[in-house]
Amino acid sequence: MERSMSDLPIARKYRPQTFGEIVGQPHVASTLSRALESRRIAQAYLFTGQRGVGKTSAARILAKSLNCAAGPTATPCGRCPSCEQITQGTSLDVLEIDGASNRGIDEIRDLRASVPFAPVTGPFRIYIIDEVHMLTTEAFNALLKTLEEPPAHVKFIFATTAAHKVPATILSRCQRFDFRRIEVATIVEALRRIAHAEQIQLDEPALYAVARASEGSLRDAEVVLEQLATFATGTVTEATVTELLGAIESEALTGLMQAIVERNPIQALQVLTAQFDQGKDVSLLITGMLRYLRNLLILSSTKEAPERTRLLARLIDEPADRLARLEEQAGRSTPQELLLWLQMATGAYELVRRTPLGQTIAELLVIKLATREQWQSLDQISRRLEGLRGPAVLHDRVEPQHRPAFAPQDAEGQGSFPRPDTPSPSPLQAAVPSGDREAGGTVSEMMPSDALLTMWPAFLERLGAQKMSLAAYLADAKPLDVNGGVLTIGLPGFALHHEVLSVAENRRLIDRLLSEVYQTPLHVQYATLPEPAAPQATAAPSLGGQPTVSPVVQEIVNLFNATILDRPRPA
Ligand SMILES: Nc1ncnc2c1ncn2[C@@H]1O[C@H](COP(=O)(O)OP(=O)(O)OP(=O)(O)O)[C@@H](O)[C@H]1O
Ligand SMILES: [Mg+2]
Ligand SMILES: [Zn+2]
Repeated sequence: MERSMSDLPIARKYRPQTFGEIVGQPHVASTLSRALESRRIAQAYLFTGQRGVGKTSAARILAKSLNCAAGPTATPCGRCPSCEQITQGTSLDVLEIDGASNRGIDEIRDLRASVPFAPVTGPFRIYIIDEVHMLTTEAFNALLKTLEEPPAHVKFIFATTAAHKVPATILSRCQRFDFRRIEVATIVEALRRIAHAEQIQLDEPALYAVARASEGSLRDAEVVLEQLATFATGTVTEATVTELLGAIESEALTGLMQAIVERNPIQALQVLTAQFDQGKDVSLLITGMLRYLRNLLILSSTKEAPERTRLLARLIDEPADRLARLEEQAGRSTPQELLLWLQMATGAYELVRRTPLGQTIAELLVIKLATREQWQSLDQISRRLEGLRGPAVLHDRVEPQHRPAFAPQDAEGQGSFPRPDTPSPSPLQAAVPSGDREAGGTVSEMMPSDALLTMWPAFLERLGAQKMSLAAYLADAKPLDVNGGVLTIGLPGFALHHEVLSVAENRRLIDRLLSEVYQTPLHVQYATLPEPAAPQATAAPSLGGQPTVSPVVQEIVNLFNATILDRPRPA
């Protein structure tokens, strides 16, 4: 019993014992406190939220509040027998049931059998059921009977990480509290306090790295802190944390993004390759980029915000002294562009999780981000479209069936592509005498390739917004010709490109977007482009007599007609 506090794991030792000690959940603490002070006490409570955000802790504090000798009170004394027993977990009036391991009807029957008995110490008998969503249907039904006719001395506190799995019949009888994922800044503060008390030395970037990795769970952060305390000697730095967690160091991400904002794809690839060489995980890398882009987007879109400094302190999950660098990078892009990048990175992330091509996809992503001039800015594209709309001829001659399918429900386009209020005639059709068009079939033979090329970036843009990976595969493709409703796209001779682009689902998407952008029904067909003169194919492998680069890098070098200036040495 008298186990000394210092033997306890950090997460238990620092379990909050009062509402005031719960961090990051001000709405929960204040609402419950007010209700207790005014004696408005519900029959049943449901605490929901991701793991490690304070649900169980809050449930125990609420139990103490209800049964404290001075209670019900929002500030339980912590010293009366009831409070002490609850803290120790020995109270006969507070029963904690783990829904995950007591899922069945028998357990709930036992519970129901105990319900009529009066509490021993305090005024209430309190059932805390953790992971309540795990109960079986029969158990839920049995529980429901108790909830329907509860004795006044019985209170329920349910906790769950999956409220959507709790039957509505139960939910409707509970007062519900949604626990939030805890912000990085809040976790950093809590960690700093604990580290100080435990005499663990961490520098700021290390604290932030722990906080970021814990994904909103303070318990997870505390567990990592504990591991660091045994793992590290001296002051813990970010490198120690990333080593322990296999995470990506901020410095590497900063370098990667710097290369991207400077439009230096080769440099970006080198940073990326160095990370892969260290065995870093692709999806962690892309998650890191997403987070980083989010930070840049916040910085670039809050320029005018009142109380910006305070806002940023809360929102940016990096130490304050990194802000200047981030601001500088954010200043090199527009919010629109950053949004587009985020979209592309999100698409890449999804693809990485579904395919075994992780590294290639990450490389393509980084290249696409770093060669943005090929992705015209949204502004440019909309201006271009505006231009097309104005002088376009034959407005009223477009037959209804030729109207573009700019369906409003096609929400994924997400406004990244301007939608004309009235459908404008297809630039392809506009250029064709109407007689020929009516005749059908041969329309496209007369299509000027100008129109084909003009709209191509808009098509890529739109495709990129829906499925970044596909757009990446089309990065070096060229629209060659339209004939009889078939648009031929020339591809560089990589088998992978043909394969991916020919998947039925991808074909359908491409057909649909082509038809929308060119405003005429189109099907895609692929042709292989002739090899470029390709001076690089021989230049790259001869890098000062060093061993050849990886085939993927080689492919990318070919693809972009690039030169490798230098390569990171193997670590
Ligand atoms: N909001 C919080 N304020 C202070 N400490 C917290 C908070 N959330 C979690 N902790 C720390 O994490 C530990 C575990 O928290 P708790 O058991 O309350 O989380 P939980 O939400 O019930 O998690 P789970 O869903 O995994 O059961 C606590 O002992 C405490 O050290
Ligand atoms: Mg819990
Ligand atoms: Zn008390």
